[in-house]
Amino acid sequence: MSQAVSRPGREVILGIGGGIAAYKACDLLRRLQDDGFSVTVVPTPAALNFVGTSTWEALSGRPVYSQVWENVPGVAHVSLAADARFIIIAPATADLLARLAHGRADDLLTNVVLASDAPKLLVPAMHPKMWLNPATIANVETLRSRGFHIMEPEVGRLTGPDSGVGRFPQTANILARFREVAGSKADLLGKRVLVTAGGTREAIDPVRYIGNRSSGKQGFAIAAAAAARGASVSLIAANCDLPEINGVEIIRVESTAELRTALNSEFPASDVLIMCAAVADARPLQTSGEKIKKEFLKEIALTPTPDLLGELKVLKKATQLIVGFAAETQDLDASASSKLVAKGLDLIYVNDVSDGAIFGSDLTSGTVMDKNGPLVSVEDVPKDTLANVLLDQLLLQIG
Ligand code: CTP
Repeated sequence: MSQAVSRPGREVILGIGGGIAAYKACDLLRRLQDDGFSVTVVPTPAALNFVGTSTWEALSGRPVYSQVWENVPGVAHVSLAADARFIIIAPATADLLARLAHGRADDLLTNVVLASDAPKLLVPAMHPKMWLNPATIANVETLRSRGFHIMEPEVGRLTGPDSGVGRFPQTANILARFREVAGSKADLLGKRVLVTAGGTREAIDPVRYIGNRSSGKQGFAIAAAAAARGASVSLIAANCDLPEINGVEIIRVESTAELRTALNSEFPASDVLIMCAAVADARPLQTSGEKIKKEFLKEIALTPTPDLLGELKVLKKATQLIVGFAAETQDLDASASSKLVAKGLDLIYVNDVSDGAIFGSDLTSGTVMDKNGPLVSVEDVPKDTLANVLLDQLLLQIG
């Protein structure tokens, strides 16, 4: 089975309770996927009486388990809980509400719920007598008081001849409520975003290099934010000591020449390039194959590296957008404006690095500019925040 792509920030667990409305959750699963969510289905064992494992596996493209003693080495309840940004349980039966209200952990779904801090939306569906039973009312109250979001069932015809309150809500209504709870946007769905991060290194000999102080944190934050907003993201990482990002393809490079090769192969298929990497401006004219003895290390003849954005300027199609970064110590706006024009950029983020404060830090201060001048400035914000500010500005450019 091909594993459905994983997106940080858009990982959802769809829990299925043992009610007839389970079949309607197949449509809900599809619509969540249309919204750019990556969905893992966790049915209760009873739910499998209504819709079986193969259906959920085929629709989700992921393995489906309902008990903790399946896939034991994977410790599924812990790993699923750790990865899930949101949990939605639809349908939630009276029994499942009771078990959740009591903090039971007698199947995989209830284990995952207990082990997760993610926002949880429950979508009850049952016979009106069960919904209006004081036991269910008390369980719903308890769960709400613990932060669970619980939808009201709809009124209408039920499975048997009766009608009343207890119907599984329309998929569109569930989705609307879920979007509210998730508070997350998929505004980059369908876009291919290429990000470069870190700093290139130019070898002097097998031991030494010319490099810079870029940690790659900003580029990684942008890649994660773009993926969370639904984009397909490729990240070219130059010498970054940072963890992988779920669902983001990482191409590791060291030198400017390697970065150039990776850019040339990835850029043509990208809608957006965010060139966050700090490129070494010069490389040794000659790289020694042997470690140079220190008495011979008095001078190193350098030659400039190519201006990678300058080269891409000529290849850039009208539909592609490029964002550059500028780390400056003086005349910030003027230097950034001239780089924007010279390098054919749509946007540039300029930050003041006079005291070296940005490098390796989790915070950043600077200004996003386009050809008309400054658009938005940030001061001492987390690099994750700047990532989303930049993506918002980018979307305005896409129009
Ligand atoms: N850049 C590039 N190729 C280079 C140098 C820089 O593509 N050889 C890109 C950087 O990734 C960044 C932007 O150009 O997005 C501006 O980088 P910066 O180092 O500020 O610009 P330089 O052209 O190197 O100018 P400076 O003389 O100020 O170093």
